Amino acid sequence: MYVCICNAVTERDIGSAVAEGCDSLRELREQLGVGACCGRCTGCARDVLKNSLHAHAPHRTTPAGQQLAAA
Ligand code: FES
Repeated sequence: MYVCICNAVTERDIGSAVAEGCDSLRELREQLGVGACCGRCTGCARDVLKNSLHAHAPHRTTPAGQQLAAA
């Protein structure tokens, strides 16, 4: 599914970016251009990022033990 129409970014592209270490919306914007044009995809991109982060590291926590959330 396309997440960002302006830059032709798919869910799979975001998943691949997360697998390579991307862990914030800012990094997605820098690497893939997500949200860099009209910005309408930002909410959907955030949800896809959050799901991808959870799929790749479901038990990631901060040093204080808090569950990490997508930016
Ligand atoms: S749809 Fe992503 S910037 Fe326009």
